[in-house]
Amino acid sequence: MSIYNDNDFTPPSAMPDHLIRYATFRQFQVFEAIYRQGSFTRAAQELFLTQPTVSMQIKKLSEAIGLPLFEHVGRTVEPTEAGKELYAACRSMFETLSNLEMKISDMKGLKRGRLHMGVVTTAKYLTPELLGEFSKIYPGIDPSLMVTNRESIIRRIRANEDDLYIMGQAPEGEFEVESFTFAPNPLVVMAPRNHPLVGKKNIKLEEIAREPLIIREAGSGVRDSMFKAFEKVGVQPTIRMELGDNEAIKHAIAGGLGLSVLSLHTLSLEGSDGPVTVLDVEGFPILRNWYIVYPKGKELSLVAQTFRDFVISSEPKIRKRMQKMWPQLENILKEDQKTTLNKKKSSKKKTKK
Ligand code: PGA
Repeated sequence: MSIYNDNDFTPPSAMPDHLIRYATFRQFQVFEAIYRQGSFTRAAQELFLTQPTVSMQIKKLSEAIGLPLFEHVGRTVEPTEAGKELYAACRSMFETLSNLEMKISDMKGLKRGRLHMGVVTTAKYLTPELLGEFSKIYPGIDPSLMVTNRESIIRRIRANEDDLYIMGQAPEGEFEVESFTFAPNPLVVMAPRNHPLVGKKNIKLEEIAREPLIIREAGSGVRDSMFKAFEKVGVQPTIRMELGDNEAIKHAIAGGLGLSVLSLHTLSLEGSDGPVTVLDVEGFPILRNWYIVYPKGKELSLVAQTFRDFVISSEPKIRKRMQKMWPQLENILKEDQKTTLNKKKSSKKKTKK
């Protein structure tokens, strides 16, 4: 009995002989990166290639296709009609091949495989540790980490560029995702250790609004939450400067340039006893959580599924680490749990009535 049916031995109706002979996967990869980045230079950086190599690959690919793929408009590159068609084909070709890669590595079990993570800027304070612990259990896994702000992560989820994402709030409304919360991500007001407000209890947000404030760049999730907190009490913060990096903000605080609202995780190495400390401000910490996220319906590789479960089960360890950073956190989280429970109980009673 044959396990094949007749169709398996018929060649596909159209075999792209010409492209198979004259184009390479590497050229398609270079082309896709230029298209997405809108620049030969940025694509070369992304792929760790020199610019002449990138230009040469595209020249050869254009010759194989028989039409130009990009045109230079001033200093930018724009795809031609042929370029746009090729881009769509590249995306579907890469998706098919990475599904194949995923199935093959699932067949090999967790001995080998890749794990592409995309995480928001602030998650860089916990994701590398999680990947490190995971790699000790599964040394054959090859992890990669893209760190960028919330807005860019949402773009990456939409384009299905990574296996899993870690963010401070799952995308809402724009498209459907699966999301699992796994640890607290409290946002706190930070000040230099010698600031007169250090040690004061229940500082009003109005008082913080009068202090110069250092804020994150547009597109940051922390920045959005901070503005919402000020809006809620109807006060306008005094913005001193904008910085796109949590570490630079901490140095600016220590240097006396102002206060800031940051995730407690940014103190993961030095704790709150260092040059930067946490203020006791009304309405703070803003109790956010970390989420591990992926597009709804996405088929996760065995490696990605195992990492997702590993991250969720790491919550107690992460909490312990956070309590070391800022011992008051434990009581704050307990109080919050109680309030949430009471709210749930009273809303149940109301619905019974
Ligand atoms: P961000 O995101 O690092 O882009 O600010 C963090 C968050 O949303 O909590």
